[in-house]
Amino acid sequence: MPMLDADDAGLDRAAALLRTGGVVAFPTETVYGLGADAFDARAVARIFEIKARPTFDPLIVHVLDEVMLARVASSVSPAVLALIARFWPGPLTLVLRKQAEVPDLVTAGLPTVAVRMPAHPIARALLARAGTPIAAPSANPFGYLSPTRAEHVAAMLGERVDAIVDGGSTEHGLESTIVMLEPEAVLLRHGAVPVEAIEAITGPLARELPDAHRPLAPGRLPQHYAPRTPIRVIDDAASVPQSERERAALLAFRAAEPGYAASRVLSARGDLREAAAHLFEYLHELDALGLARIDAERVPSEGIGAAISDRLARAAAS
Ligand code: TXA
Ligand code: MG
Repeated sequence: MPMLDADDAGLDRAAALLRTGGVVAFPTETVYGLGADAFDARAVARIFEIKARPTFDPLIVHVLDEVMLARVASSVSPAVLALIARFWPGPLTLVLRKQAEVPDLVTAGLPTVAVRMPAHPIARALLARAGTPIAAPSANPFGYLSPTRAEHVAAMLGERVDAIVDGGSTEHGLESTIVMLEPEAVLLRHGAVPVEAIEAITGPLARELPDAHRPLAPGRLPQHYAPRTPIRVIDDAASVPQSERERAALLAFRAAEPGYAASRVLSARGDLREAAAHLFEYLHELDALGLARIDAERVPSEGIGAAISDRLARAAAS
C-alpha cells in the first residue's frame, strides 16, 4: 500500500491506478474517500469488497465539472441547478436521475445516482487527471468511524487498497449533506452543509423517504459511524459519577472534567465547525486507547451541530 504525496508524481500515479481499475483513497474536504472509476464495475466491486460494504448501499459519484455531471446524471431540474449554483463545488451530495451507463453496482440498482462536486484541490486534481467520474464512499470499513487523515485509512484498510494520497487533515471532518429533490424533496443525511442553508433555497425538506426509495441510505441506519469502544451520549460530564469515569474516556464539547482516564475537547470556544472537524479524529484517538467506554457530550443541534448529533447518536446505537 504505497502512501503517495499529493505532488505531480503522486497524483499522476494515483490517476493511472484509477484509469486501470485500481482503488485509491484520497482526501476530500469532508472525509477521505475510497475511489474507483465510476464506469468500471469491476473496480467498483473491489470498493465493496475492501470495505465489506453490503451491495444494497449505493456509492457517491464525484465529478469535476458540469461536463462530468452530464455523463452520470440525466435531466437536472432548475431547482437542482439552484443548489448546484450555491453549493458546488462543496460538501453537498445530490441524488439525481442516473444515466444508463452508470453501473447498477454503483447505485445499488436504483434509478438514481448520488453525485457531488468536491472542492478539495487534491480531489479535483485527481478527477482532472483521471478524466473520469470517481465513485467513492468514505474510506473506512462499513459501519466504522470515517477517516479524516491518511493515517486513519492506512490503519483501517492498509494493504487492501492500491494507494493512499496523503492530503493531511480534512477541513470539515464529517461527510457531505445528502439531498434528493425529486420525486420528493428529502434530506437524506445531515452533513457539512447545514440543512438550514439548503432549506433557505429549497423550502422545507422532508426527513423521511418515500417507501419506493427504501432502503437506500445506510448512513441513516440507526447503527453506523461507530468506534469499537462502547460509546454513550451524555448531557453533561459534570453529572457523571466519579466511579463511572475511571476506565472511561470523555469526548467533551467545551471543557474537560477531572477523573476520566482520557479526554478530548471538541471546541473550547464552543464553535460547532471546529467541533465537527475534530469529531472523528478524536474518536479515532480515544478508541485506540481501548478503554471500557467513551462518554460523548451532547452538542447543540443547530447548523453543523445537527450532523455531529446525528453521528454521535448512530455511533451510540451500535
Ligand atoms: O462526504 C462524503 O459524502 C464522503 C466523501 C468521500 O465524498 N462520502 C461518503 O460516502 O460519505 P458514503 O458511501 O460513506 O455515504 C454515501 C451515502 C450512503 O448512505 C448511501 O446510501 C447514500 O449516500 N446514497 C448513495 N446513493 C444514493 C441514492 N441513489 N439514493 C439515496 N442515497 C444514496
Ligand atoms: Mg460512510
